[in-house]
Amino acid sequence: MRFDVLTLFPQMVRNAMNVSVTGRAIEDGLIDFGVHDIREYSDNKHRNVDDTPYGGGAGMVMSPGPIVRCLEALRAETGHMHTVLLSPAGRVFDQSVAAEYALLPGITFICGRYEGVDERVGAWVDEKLSIGDFVLTGGELGALVAMDATARLLPGVLGNDESSIDESWSQGLVEYPQYTRPRNFRGHCVPDVLLNGNHAAIAQWRRLQSLTRTKTDRPDRWSEQDLSLDDKKLLET
Ligand SMILES: C[S@@+](CC[C@H](N)C(=O)[O-])C[C@H]1O[C@@H](n2cnc3c(N)ncnc32)[C@H](O)[C@@H]1O
Repeated sequence: MRFDVLTLFPQMVRNAMNVSVTGRAIEDGLIDFGVHDIREYSDNKHRNVDDTPYGGGAGMVMSPGPIVRCLEALRAETGHMHTVLLSPAGRVFDQSVAAEYALLPGITFICGRYEGVDERVGAWVDEKLSIGDFVLTGGELGALVAMDATARLLPGVLGNDESSIDESWSQGLVEYPQYTRPRNFRGHCVPDVLLNGNHAAIAQWRRLQSLTRTKTDRPDRWSEQDLSLDDKKLLET
């Protein structure tokens, strides 16, 4: 899969992607990763990429020209990849969007800055994507969030591919609690069920924990659960 990011802050995006799991995936060739400096596509000697808003108002708006020229140069090399404009007004990113993205051959992210991007750039994008109902200073963190969550769903990116199947939101629930050594940490003990080697009992305990934690901590997601008969029985125990 390929990820391309159009940004005014290439170093910020490179620095974050080139470490840990995503860094290794890039090194191993599991992800093709490109960062493209929108400023290089400015058409004036001051390398401006923004201008004052028509109609007045605070701040500056990113001009359409540099963004679209940057996108066209990229598309001339890679073809048209699914193109995402980061925006607080977009579809809200979650695990199901990450799963959808992981099936694509590539994604191009366009990161806004300042007061945002000239509306007409919308004609060149496939969707607007938000990472939550708050306002960031730029789209780079949004693109990084989406790339990180998507990358870990790609075959071979995590050491153990099972890791991404059995974790929060992969089945609409939060994950069960995890413990490691020591068995007793300052009086807080690991639940006995995890120590007895009874795999069926452990699986049942974990499922119940996932269900109850989702119900208690995420009532907003609990209401959408379509529980199996086994889950209903487990909750009644
Ligand atoms: C300061 S914001 C612009 C906010 C815009 N004036 C508004 O009120 O909707 C600058 C850029 O940050 C990015 N951004 C801000 N919040 C975001 C969010 N929640 N999700 C995704 N991108 C976001 C977008 O690319 C946006 O163009």
